[in-house]
Amino acid sequence: MSFIQMKNITKNFHRIGEPAVSELNLAINQGEIVTLLGPSGCGKTTTLRMLAGFEQPDSGTIIIDDLTVFDNYKSVPPEKRGIGMVFQDYTLFPHMTIEKNVMFGLSKWRFRERKRRAEEVLELVGLSDYAKRSPNELSGGQQQRVALARALAPKPHVILMDEPFSNLDAGLREKMRFDVANILKQANTTAIIVTHDQKDAFSVSDRVVVMRNGVIQQIDEPRQMYRCPRNCFVAQFVGKTNLLTGKLCPDMLHVDTHIGRVSLPERTEQLLEEVHVSIRPEGCRLTEKGRYSGKVERVTYGGDYQELEISLPTNPLVNEPMIIYAPVEREVEIGSIVSFDITPELVALVEN
Ligand SMILES: Nc1ncnc2c1ncn2[C@@H]1O[C@H](COP(=O)(O)OP(=O)(O)OP(=O)(O)O)[C@@H](O)[C@H]1O
Ligand SMILES: [Mg+2]
Repeated sequence: MSFIQMKNITKNFHRIGEPAVSELNLAINQGEIVTLLGPSGCGKTTTLRMLAGFEQPDSGTIIIDDLTVFDNYKSVPPEKRGIGMVFQDYTLFPHMTIEKNVMFGLSKWRFRERKRRAEEVLELVGLSDYAKRSPNELSGGQQQRVALARALAPKPHVILMDEPFSNLDAGLREKMRFDVANILKQANTTAIIVTHDQKDAFSVSDRVVVMRNGVIQQIDEPRQMYRCPRNCFVAQFVGKTNLLTGKLCPDMLHVDTHIGRVSLPERTEQLLEEVHVSIRPEGCRLTEKGRYSGKVERVTYGGDYQELEISLPTNPLVNEPMIIYAPVEREVEIGSIVSFDITPELVALVEN
């Protein structure tokens, strides 16, 4: 049985209108890192707060480590759920040393054990030498690691982190994603991380949960989510994509679109003739005699790749250019005609 189970959880803050979270079902394994990903207002924080016990669902069941912490009959208070929280702004106590900050949550422990545990978790987050400093003598990334150490100190079953990377600049953010994932894996802690940033989600988690308007859209490993998004929303939310409509061919392996015939990675069992396909920009490779060709309308230099917008002449009713990525060393002139092929592995049939 899964370590954390949220079953049919619904929460409506207002009597009328759409619920903030609707019929949510989520099962998480021991030691797994899962991120909740979605646009602002889609119910990520509400889901986290219900799990922690700061918010009561209208209905549903929550089980953590075989213990029912919420159902129709009871609600276990937050401090008895064995959950550690790391908030967006870290909330370290400015007047206490790093060590005291970490020891704070261990008030029921004996002093010597508190001190030993603080040393242990500070070592885990790589800040043993900073124990006697105060929070304002630390960088943003270091402060965040202290907040994580403090949350880990009481040995919680689960760590919840709400937008843990949002206060960090781009370079530090990338490093912290790596550090946080490492620290959580070393501590073998189950973690749920909330973010609206796809890169955060993909780089730290074992599985990603994409939400929209309080409803889970897809739960998958990052690679699978990227390659096989279930619907148009997920396809567009996780990375860039080209969404095309078309007609499924009788062989169930090709789709006729306005840019021409596109191959699917495998035969589909889809029954409808009218379909949507998502084609990732990375799946389009510039080649000499490619199957598709069009005019370069725009080139955006992205550092590690360049993004091209290409208009294809085939159907005047569809003006949407195709977005494709090209290697930076390739000189591409605006107005020139280029040709490309599409890798079927980065093509997916998606629901509307
Ligand atoms: N205490 C509250 N009272 C009333 N409505 C609330 C409350 N908390 C959240 N909501 C509403 O519930 C919905 C989901 O909010 P939530 O904070 O869970 O979103 P989120 O996905 O965390 O968004 P963000 O990325 O902006 O933090 C929103 O429409 C929000 O306005
Ligand atoms: Mg939020």
